[in-house]
Amino acid sequence: MSRWKRLVSEVRADVRAARERDPAAQNVSTLEILLSWAGVQALLAHRLAHALLEAGVPVAPRVLAYLSRSVTGVEIHPAARIGREFFVDHGAGVVIGETAEIGERVTLYQGVTLGGTGFQRGKRHPTLGDNVTVGSGAKLLGPIAVGDGAKIGANTVVVEDVPPGSTVVGNPGHPVKVEGRRVEGPDADWIHLPDPIAEAIKTLSQRIASLERRLAELDGGEPARADGAELRERTGRSSAGG
Ligand SMILES: CC(C)(COP(=O)(O)OP(=O)(O)OC[C@H]1O[C@@H](n2cnc3c(N)ncnc32)[C@H](O)[C@@H]1OP(=O)(O)O)[C@@H](O)C(=O)NCCC(=O)NCCS
Repeated sequence: MSRWKRLVSEVRADVRAARERDPAAQNVSTLEILLSWAGVQALLAHRLAHALLEAGVPVAPRVLAYLSRSVTGVEIHPAARIGREFFVDHGAGVVIGETAEIGERVTLYQGVTLGGTGFQRGKRHPTLGDNVTVGSGAKLLGPIAVGDGAKIGANTVVVEDVPPGSTVVGNPGHPVKVEGRRVEGPDADWIHLPDPIAEAIKTLSQRIASLERRLAELDGGEPARADGAELRERTGRSSAGG
């Protein structure tokens, strides 16, 4: 297939992907999606910029990427490699670096960064497999590999490879599920991490209370009442781990 025919077929698949994956795009015409979906516009501009770069056209690819960023808030380096049926939901604040590679049917939400960790040269951005979903605000940094079908939770910071089919959350990102099953093992529960400082304060508080009771017994008076809030076990969902 010629480069330009491939471009048109990719564009068709991208618009289809927006309709399939964005519940808000269900009964919306192709024209309306093209005119008002920032993520789709950014991708179309990228497809063109990438084709121009591959054709050896100077200046235009970067200028196109710059204009697209100004309009959509999505910055994609013209050299980034993006597979078919890619979809950026909402668009704003997405950055995709020069050496990033993205497989097929990948979805990114707003605020995602596929970036480098510093000033290295060469391959320095992530490689995403097929059917990967990256939640809003997630940062994927360095030349890491994200396996097929992985889900990256909103606001996760990923600096290591992600196994296929896993759900990764938190900062640093860590798998909480693989192939739909919770990760098990002694070090697997990153969500409900122990809090050593709270534990130390709780132990001290219990010792003070016991000493006060003992003192009151010796004095023959009532034990002093603590002014501060009583330290109790925390209940409900943990906010630890991201
Ligand atoms: C990660 C995500 C994809 C869910 O994947 P999943 O495989 O269905 O995982 P679950 O919902 O079963 O969550 C597994 C655990 O991770 C926790 N978790 C889920 N998402 C998390 C996140 N972003 N940060 C921290 N922890 C998270 C859950 O609370 C759960 O913890 P538990 O084991 O203590 O109950 C989803 O939570 C998410 O973040 N989606 C992004 C959506 C988004 O960006 N939307 C923007 C729309 S505008």
